[in-house]
Amino acid sequence: MDLLLAIDQGTTSTRSILHGPDLAPRASAQRALAQHFPAPGWVEHEPEEIWAATLATMRDALAQGEAQGGAAAKDLAGIGITNQRETTLVWDRRSGRAIHRAIVWQDRRTAAHCARLAAEGAGGLIAERSGLLPDPYFSATKLAWLLDNVGGARAAAERGDLAFGTVDSFLLWRLTGGRVHATDATNAARTMLFDIRRGCWDADLLKLFGIPESLLPEVRDNACDFGMTEPGLLGTAVPVRGMAGDQHAAMLGQACFAPGMVKSTYGTGCFLLLNTGDVAVPSKNRLLTTLAWQLGGQRTYALEGAIFIAGAAVQWLRDGLGIIKDAAESGRLAAKADPAQPVYFVPAFTGLGAPHWDAEARGAIFGLTRNTGPAEICRAALEAVAFQTRDLVEAMQADWGARGGGTVLRVDGGMTASDYAMQALADLLGAPVDRPEVQETTALGAAYLAGLQAGLLPPPGPAVAHWRLDRRFHPSMPRAEADRRHAGWQDAVRRVLT
Ligand code: G3P
Repeated sequence: MDLLLAIDQGTTSTRSILHGPDLAPRASAQRALAQHFPAPGWVEHEPEEIWAATLATMRDALAQGEAQGGAAAKDLAGIGITNQRETTLVWDRRSGRAIHRAIVWQDRRTAAHCARLAAEGAGGLIAERSGLLPDPYFSATKLAWLLDNVGGARAAAERGDLAFGTVDSFLLWRLTGGRVHATDATNAARTMLFDIRRGCWDADLLKLFGIPESLLPEVRDNACDFGMTEPGLLGTAVPVRGMAGDQHAAMLGQACFAPGMVKSTYGTGCFLLLNTGDVAVPSKNRLLTTLAWQLGGQRTYALEGAIFIAGAAVQWLRDGLGIIKDAAESGRLAAKADPAQPVYFVPAFTGLGAPHWDAEARGAIFGLTRNTGPAEICRAALEAVAFQTRDLVEAMQADWGARGGGTVLRVDGGMTASDYAMQALADLLGAPVDRPEVQETTALGAAYLAGLQAGLLPPPGPAVAHWRLDRRFHPSMPRAEADRRHAGWQDAVRRVLT
C-alpha cells in the first residue's frame, strides 16, 4: 500500500503516472484531448472525453504496473489529482452530466464582460480579494456566461440543482460517484471568487459576478482525504488524497519550498511562479497574487506570471504551418536560422497574458524578408517563449525586489526537453536555467501530495529529497546582445497591443 497514482489532466492531454514511495515514476499512460474552437477566440473541451481519458489512463497505468511486477489498485496509498486550472464546468447534481462543454482557460468569449468590469472600477475589489485582475482567463465570467447562455441554467442554479467546478472538482465528483463536491484552495484561487487571504469564497465577488453560492464546491487543503473512489472504477475503492492546480503541483514537484524560489513550466502556456512564503504580495507590475499551496490550513503564497502560448506555438508550427513534423524538430530547424535576420513572432493567438493582459491582441510575425524561411520563423517561435519569460522575470524582480532568491530558474514541461530552447532561454534571460531529471513535475507534485497525506512523505522542506538536477544551462550570449534583442521583442509586442 505504498504506491501513488497521479492524474494530470492538462489542456492538450490527460496522463496518469504511477509513482513508487520514493516518487520515482514507474508507469504512465496518456491520451490526447480534442480542442474545440466554435468561434474565434473560443476554446472548449468535451467533459465526457476528459472523464473517459482519465479513467482509461488510470487503468492503463495500473495495468502496466501490474505487468511489471504486480502493482494493483489495492497497492495504492492514494491518488493525487492535478489539472489545467480555471477551465469551467457546470453539471447537473442528479445526473452528473455537464450542461455544456467545458470552457477552457484560454477562452476569450467574456472579454467584453471583463472590460466592462474594469471600466466600472471593479479591478480594485477583484485584486484585493482574489489577487487576480479582470480577464476572461479566470473562471468567474465563464461561469456567469454559462448561467446566462444555457437555457434554464440560472433558474436551475438558484434551485440548487447544479454544481460548478474546475476540472479537479469534476473529476473528484465522478471518481467518488457524485458523493463529494470539493476543490482545493489553489484551484479555488483561480476562479476570481475566492478570498486568498481569508481562504474562503467571497460574498462580494459572488455578488459582482452574479453567482449563486449553492453552485460552489467545498474548499479543502491540497493534501487531505478528499473521498474514496467508487469501487467499480478500479476494482477496489482508493482514497483521493491530494489535489492541486497543475502549476502549484509543479512548484511542489520542483521543490520550490523556500521563499524566493522560482519555477517556470512550459506546457501549452508558460507559468512562472515565485514562492513568497506566508505573505500574499500584491503586484505593482500586473502579475497575479495567488496561492502556492495550502497545507494544514496554512497558506503559502506565490506571485505568478501567466503566458498563454508557449508549447502551443510549437504545436502551431507543426499542425498549422506544417513546417516541422514533431516538436523535437523545432530546435534542429531553429539552429539553422540566419543569425543576420531579426524575426520576431508574437504568439498572441488568444490575447496576451502577463504583464500586458490584452484579451483582444492577436498574433503577428515581424521582420519578414524574401530570405525568411521556416528556420527563422521556428527560431522566432522558440525565442518568443524566452522573451516572454524575461518579461515575467523582470516584473517579478520589480515586485519581489531585493528579498532574495530568484536568480536561478527551475524549468519543466514538454518544451524543456529541447536543449536549444533552454539555451536560448538562459541566453536571452541572462540567468542560469536548471532542468531537473524528472520533467513531469506536475504529476510528481500531485503524487507528493497524496504521499504526504498518506504519511509516506515529509512536509515541504529539506527532508523532501525528490529533486535532482539534470543540467544547468548557463547564459553564453553577451548581455548587450540579449538586451538589444529583447528591445526588438518589446517593440514587436507594442505593435500588437490594442
Ligand atoms: O492556467 C492554465 C494552466 O493551468 C494550464 O496548464 O499545462 O495545461 O498548459 P497546461
